[in-house]
Amino acid sequence: MHKRGILVINFGSQYVQLIARRVRELGVFSEIVNWDISVDEIKEKNPYGIIFSGGPASVYAPGAPLPDKGIYELGIPILGICYGLQVITHQLSGKVEKSDKQEYGRARLRILKEDTIFEGIPKESDVWMSHADKVVKLPENFEVLAVSDNSPYAVIADKDRRIYGFQFHPEVVHTVYGKEMLANFVYGVCKAERNWEMGDFIKEKIEEIRKTVGDSKVIAALSGGVDSTVAAVLTHRAVGDKLHCFFIDHGLLRYKEREEVEKNLRSLGLPLTVVDASDIFLERLKGVEDPEEKRKIIGRTFIEVFEKEAKKIEGAEFLLQGTLYPDVVESAGIKGSAKIKTHHNVGGLPERMNLKLLEPFRELFKDEVRQIGKLLGIPDEILKRHPFPGPGLAIRVIGEVKKEDLEILRKADYIFIEELKKAGLYDRVWQAFAVLLPIKSVGVMGDVRTYEKVIALRAVESVDGMTADWYRLPYDFLDKVMRRIINEVEGVNRVVYDISSKPPSTIEWE
Ligand code: XMP
Repeated sequence: MHKRGILVINFGSQYVQLIARRVRELGVFSEIVNWDISVDEIKEKNPYGIIFSGGPASVYAPGAPLPDKGIYELGIPILGICYGLQVITHQLSGKVEKSDKQEYGRARLRILKEDTIFEGIPKESDVWMSHADKVVKLPENFEVLAVSDNSPYAVIADKDRRIYGFQFHPEVVHTVYGKEMLANFVYGVCKAERNWEMGDFIKEKIEEIRKTVGDSKVIAALSGGVDSTVAAVLTHRAVGDKLHCFFIDHGLLRYKEREEVEKNLRSLGLPLTVVDASDIFLERLKGVEDPEEKRKIIGRTFIEVFEKEAKKIEGAEFLLQGTLYPDVVESAGIKGSAKIKTHHNVGGLPERMNLKLLEPFRELFKDEVRQIGKLLGIPDEILKRHPFPGPGLAIRVIGEVKKEDLEILRKADYIFIEELKKAGLYDRVWQAFAVLLPIKSVGVMGDVRTYEKVIALRAVESVDGMTADWYRLPYDFLDKVMRRIINEVEGVNRVVYDISSKPPSTIEWE
């Protein structure tokens, strides 16, 4: 059986996704598994090498995650990072203790002994540390290859068994030669072969989807966003019209969004049913102010509407979803995760309709999905769309959602986005939108005192939506948007710009 990439074993590190991603950037397939994976499962996966991630636990604490010791007998090279190094030390009878000096941030690494792992790396360089425990006794047959001021065991190795440990994090950008060290492990130590190109991934996935689906049918609820669109196009390549897509208008979309999404999806050749369910959603949202309550109502109603429509497709056995790796981590409740966006992934529906899930992007990150989209010929207009929340404008009209308020918000939001595009700023911000506040403020227009609504503008920079900072939009630009909104949108007499970061705020206002 041919070998398959690098297996990353997750001990709860916030960087675990980054490790897998770095390996893929090197052109080698990489997959993340939980620390309790069995030795048989590892054998079956037959990886070139194994990386132990970091993690928040202490190896000596009761209940600390420790892998099956058989892992060291497989003859597969291992690299332990941070907690991973401590796991190796602890399990191979070295000693790890609590350190009286914690070490966080930049540290200077000094190489003591030349080795494959340091190929092309200067004798001294900066690395990123983040640990409270330290190795005090090396396991048998191990030697020290590099040190830092506070870590006499910064890099350790048993060269015969090809087991390495790094006390620092090679996967973060602050470790200047981190990528080179990982490349040395992957290519130099594990002798991996290049096997990860997006083109190969597409071919493989198409084959896999075809096999899985066989003679049955697949249904999908599309949002018009990147993940679900790319997933649908890929699946359509695999099974043609055995795929059927739905786009449900919940009445909480942006200005002319339904028409635009329909046009886009049809131009991609996708078999599509567009459902206008806006009346039901708006009816059920009447009088509801609490954001979580709004989300629940929208989620439930979405499932109901989708189920009714989807039942018309006879013989559907699969539900296609554009779930990404970070979503998988969130749902699995692995440490470091945040919110689970259940309604976005039509939660509960697969069980109710007895559908199996088809999730071709479970191992990928958003920008990798964008690359796939590009290779599949999907236009940039779709691939570069900002994220848009499942509950749509319902969580941007603060408080009760009224039809006339949605209209005001749509107009203001459209102006803001149009101006961002005109100024070439749309692709620079991660997400931008307008929010309608549930207050009125005093103004004066043409000698008349007014008492009208307030629009807040939000534009953020972010990598994955987990953290974000407000985007420094030019004052002149904001000025222009403010003028247009106040002049063109009836009912608004004040515009403010949100300069909060996440945390402590969130991106959305609700
Ligand atoms: P927050 O407001 O939590 O948003 O900082 C982070 C990202 O998630 C989006 N978001 C949602 N997406 N359903 C979704 O599908 C939701 O209920 C939801 N709430 C927030 C938000 O737009 C941002 O991209």
